[in-house]
Amino acid sequence: MDINTVGVVGCGLMGSGIAQIASQAGCNVVVREVDEAACEKGRGKIDKFLGKAVEKGKMSEDDKNAVLGRMTFTTDLADFSSCDLVVEAIIENLDAKRELFGALDGICPDHTIFATNTSSLAVGDMASATKRPQNFVGLHFFNPVPLMKLVEVVRTLETSDEVFDASCAFGEKVGKVVVRAKDSPGFVVNLLLVPYLLDAIRALEAGVATKEDIDAGMKLGCGHPMGPLQLLDFVGLDTTLYIADIMFHEFKEFRYSAPPMLRRLVASGRNGMKAGRGFYDYSKK
Ligand code: 3HC
Repeated sequence: MDINTVGVVGCGLMGSGIAQIASQAGCNVVVREVDEAACEKGRGKIDKFLGKAVEKGKMSEDDKNAVLGRMTFTTDLADFSSCDLVVEAIIENLDAKRELFGALDGICPDHTIFATNTSSLAVGDMASATKRPQNFVGLHFFNPVPLMKLVEVVRTLETSDEVFDASCAFGEKVGKVVVRAKDSPGFVVNLLLVPYLLDAIRALEAGVATKEDIDAGMKLGCGHPMGPLQLLDFVGLDTTLYIADIMFHEFKEFRYSAPPMLRRLVASGRNGMKAGRGFYDYSKK
């Protein structure tokens, strides 16, 4: 099962990174966004990231142009009709994802593998919206996709061995280390990361230390690239709350329950870096 043509639905933070690394790996990539303006914005993100790589001397201008040249942007799902793999990176909403995969099922050939980049929803709940649950996997990438070295490849009860192996091979082809996981809430990384992030908020709420000291403690004491509160701002407080609520709903365990401070910050729009404010203030940057 060779994967040469890849469709990516959604060109936001995650979709743009996935499209970029697939093209960098030599695949032809079709990217779908809702309208022309969103296509232009998504293309701009990739152009900017590759531009930085050229500036840093990590890529030649010719290679950058070749990567962009292998990508086409569209607003029409029908353009996915020749894809070997379609990766979905739209909003974390099960109904929206089921509707999308239902539509793709009628457009893509039988061999096409469907993958979701969901971080918290059940992959099987999306696969059941199609007539090809054996061709369905999770491909969970990490932000920033081009820099983070991991992809979790997730199999449901129905995923065939052949499709799972081809999906793992694709993960390696795009330069990632593959971790294999079953379709369990949070897979491997968020299962462990989310309670850690929530505990950091609980420590702040309890007055154990300042946010700066909690972050410095984990950065310097454990060698993490970012402290937990910085990482929360980076991932997005709204995103983290959403994932925590899904995991709490699944497990009914305290460690997945969102601390009041997280809810208050999200309610007031302090969603982290993207909002200019979360635990820290980014408005001047
Ligand atoms: N092209 C190529 N390389 C680039 C680049 C570009 N455009 N931009 C940066 N780089 C390279 C740099 O050259 C550098 O490489 P080097 O180590 O060889 O010199 C490396 O990437 C790091 O870049 P910077 O020095 O500019 O930035 P930082 O050192 O501050 O690292 C970071 C930034 C990679 C974001 C780092 O802080 C980090 O790893 N943070 C943690 C991120 C994380 O945990 N993400 C996962 C979140 S959880 C998730 O996504 C799951 C979801 O479900 C919630």
